[in-house]
Amino acid sequence: MSTLTIREATKDDAEAIRTIYNYEVENETSTMDLVPRTLDVQREWISTRSGAFCAVVATDSAGIILGFGALSEYKDRSGYRSTVENSVYVRRDVARRGIGRQLLTHLISVATVSGFHTVIARIESTSIASRELHMACSFKLIGVEQQVARKFGKWLDIAVMQCILQDNLQILK
Ligand SMILES: CC(C)(COP(=O)(O)OP(=O)(O)OC[C@H]1O[C@@H](n2cnc3c(N)ncnc32)[C@H](O)[C@@H]1OP(=O)(O)O)[C@@H](O)C(=O)NCCC(=O)NCCS
Repeated sequence: MSTLTIREATKDDAEAIRTIYNYEVENETSTMDLVPRTLDVQREWISTRSGAFCAVVATDSAGIILGFGALSEYKDRSGYRSTVENSVYVRRDVARRGIGRQLLTHLISVATVSGFHTVIARIESTSIASRELHMACSFKLIGVEQQVARKFGKWLDIAVMQCILQDNLQILK
């Protein structure tokens, strides 16, 4: 999609972001959240993200939000601070138009510029779209955590995928 813009999310984007996210919460296993986000919770989520731990949206030429992505703390123990976790969500009706790739590429750039060493994605293991998107953006499958999540009455496995940013830079040279 050529007219796509990626920009930082603001609190005014909360309703559009939570509409995309809550669809996934209520209907899909892409997130292990079980309770839809309220507008206040979504606003708070945006307000806690800035700089390296960014939240970004992808908009069309009319400014409509088609997807969003974020970088979040991986683990709170300080030895893990060179690692960051990413997430990307695209509206289902505009899937497979390159929006996820642009969002993830942007997040990788932010992580690189911010000095992180590696980015981790945790993906429900049957999500081919997400796994292939991450593969296409230089992530590798590290392993699969068996039955660590439960949603819609089923045990779910989580594929852990990783992009080592230094390796990525070598490839780009
Ligand atoms: C995963 C997701 C973000 C992909 O976004 P998207 O905008 O549809 O993906 P793109 O069009 O940018 O696809 C980029 C590449 O990813 C891969 N890909 C995307 N969807 C795919 C699918 N359904 N099947 C196979 N490969 C797929 C392809 O390699 C694709 O490149 P190509 O179209 O040139 O072949 C989107 O499907 C989504 O929001 N899913 C639900 C939420 C989710 O699972 N998020 C990940 C949690 S971290």
